[in-house]
Amino acid sequence: MVAVVATYAPHNPEQVKRVGAAIELIHLASLVHDDLLDGASTRRSRPALYRVCGSTPAVLAGDYLFASAFDLLSNAPQDILKKVTRAIRAMCEGEIAELLQSDCSEAGYYRRVEKKTAVLMAAACASGAILAGMDQPRIAILETLGHHMGIAFQIADDLLDLEADPAITGKDAWQDIRRGVVTLPLIHFLSTAPPGPPWLEKLAAGTISHEEAGVLLASLREAGSLEYARQQAARHVSLALQALEQLPPSRARDTLARMAADIATPA
Ligand code: IPE
Ligand code: MG
Ligand code: MG
Repeated sequence: MVAVVATYAPHNPEQVKRVGAAIELIHLASLVHDDLLDGASTRRSRPALYRVCGSTPAVLAGDYLFASAFDLLSNAPQDILKKVTRAIRAMCEGEIAELLQSDCSEAGYYRRVEKKTAVLMAAACASGAILAGMDQPRIAILETLGHHMGIAFQIADDLLDLEADPAITGKDAWQDIRRGVVTLPLIHFLSTAPPGPPWLEKLAAGTISHEEAGVLLASLREAGSLEYARQQAARHVSLALQALEQLPPSRARDTLARMAADIATPA
């Protein structure tokens, strides 16, 4: 995203590579830590790092990746440093909010995913815009684009957790249900569901069996909750495309529009 946005205007390609690589390393570090927090067994079709080397080395490996990212950012413009450090702080807040699970409202969900996912994508787009020397209003437009792409991406990720084949995603299925993470389809279901098993209590207790997870998934489908989440992802893709419409036509805009359109429909 950094590289594509930067092609809007003349830029220093070396600097773009460094900032893009730094943001990729931050993303990777957050996943190393996230798998430990989630108790995940698999990432990208291989054992999660902490399963291979133990929790303490994995925490340090994540820290090492964060430090490597800041090494790459040491000569970047101050505004980029600020946006990226604020994104990391927000990601930590989002992960903590998810662990505490104190708010099962839709508004609470959006506050969490804004922090855990969308802020970094917004920072990536804004960084590309800064490196291309764009003015403040255009940086804000690209930040909005990254924000909506991030929300759409996370809703799609939540749906993949419920529906996708782990052989394709390369990570565990039904991890959110097992850990009691209340994602958008579950929030919709819990607010519309007819009387039935006390799912919220079961989710909170983290005691859902494999069979119960199957029943819950069928109920989500029947209640239209998966469809609802898909519509919400599509709504955020539309908002991302609307943001892009405010920029003059260019190849970069076409590429970003394709990326936005694809983000909620992973292969
Ligand atoms: C991870 O969210 C968010 C961060 C790394 C900050 P998820 O927990 O939903 O990601 P997956 O499903 O493990 O990939
Ligand atoms: Mg996870
Ligand atoms: Mg997930």
